[in-house]
Amino acid sequence: MKISFVSAGSSDESFFHDELRDHELEFVRSMGEVSSEAEILSPFIYDQVNLDFLEGHPALRLVCTRSAGWDHIDLELCRRRGVAVANVPAYGANTVAEHTFALILSLSRRLREAGLAVPDRSPVEALRGFDLKGKTIGVIGTGRIGSHVIRLANGFGMRVLACDAFPNTHLADLLGFEYTALEDLLPQAQVITLHCPLRPDTFHLLNRERLSRCLPGVLIINTARGNLIDTEALIAALEAGHVGGAGLDVLEGELATTRPPSLNVTELILEELHAGLSPEEYRLKHPNRIQDLQQMMRNKVLISRPNVVFTPHVAFNSFEAADRINRTTMENVRAFLKGKPINLVTPA
Ligand code: NAI
Repeated sequence: MKISFVSAGSSDESFFHDELRDHELEFVRSMGEVSSEAEILSPFIYDQVNLDFLEGHPALRLVCTRSAGWDHIDLELCRRRGVAVANVPAYGANTVAEHTFALILSLSRRLREAGLAVPDRSPVEALRGFDLKGKTIGVIGTGRIGSHVIRLANGFGMRVLACDAFPNTHLADLLGFEYTALEDLLPQAQVITLHCPLRPDTFHLLNRERLSRCLPGVLIINTARGNLIDTEALIAALEAGHVGGAGLDVLEGELATTRPPSLNVTELILEELHAGLSPEEYRLKHPNRIQDLQQMMRNKVLISRPNVVFTPHVAFNSFEAADRINRTTMENVRAFLKGKPINLVTPA
């Protein structure tokens, strides 16, 4: 079986070489390098499995993403072409929850400013943070990650309010938190953290109007998906001082299909200057590029703010979680080859 791994690191590579040694493996950095004969593909979140890709890879039978999310895979198209899709549903709820608290604490204790401060010369008051104990945290989405965040919040002595499209009253009793409607959660929480999936109904869940209903000084934390927050609205709320800080592991548009993730704004501008096209020709040739560029600029503005702590989609990235991801991916491949596929994802 020809199996192609995209965007795998060197330690992942040696793991799969050991575990899947009976197969023909290839490790490539981008989707454009995947062999046209690949029968199993193992992409990561930035690797788009779309019409173009599927048309160029007719032998493909399984897409085995090394992630929980599958926003980068056109599930419906895969279904129509008879390509199964498997994911790694649970590899690190605690891992992402711990990172969520790393973001919260770096804002509440002003680690960014403190790290830049000159020893003995910075006024203590300028670096003063606040206690989490006794504060209210609003958890949006109480699934695998959200419920772990609640456990940690309990450990910090926080009051927990939560909302979910499908409230789990057993969990609420077990962990001692309260479900409330989103509109009631917003004006009560000093920290709001997002742990729900991105879907059409959750796109820009935190928009201008909802941000304005939050408590002044609220901290907004997002380790779920960037498009859950309207970036422009968040920048405006940070600038106005209404939002006190943002801790972001994900950015709006970061999984856009029209550019590789490594392309930065400067490269994109240089590429445009050298393209020698008129603005109109450029728009016709790259219909989504202008929007992408605008979003990238907004993201740059956002993450440059002193009260924003940004990490580049690494909340999942602990040694332990990486090991669990690789093991589940290997099990997904083996189960599929035995005719008993596991962890399949199907279109809603
Ligand atoms: P999950 O599926 O276990 O939980 C999601 C919860 O959100 C469910 O309880 C669901 O009912 C709830 N929900 C759905 N729609 C909602 C709405 N409109 N309002 C409130 N709640 C709603 O998912 P899991 O594993 O906890 O992941 C949560 C998010 O974290 C996902 O977006 C996932 O893509 C992201 N993620 C990010 C990672 C990172 O490295 N930054 C790593 C892993 C996941």
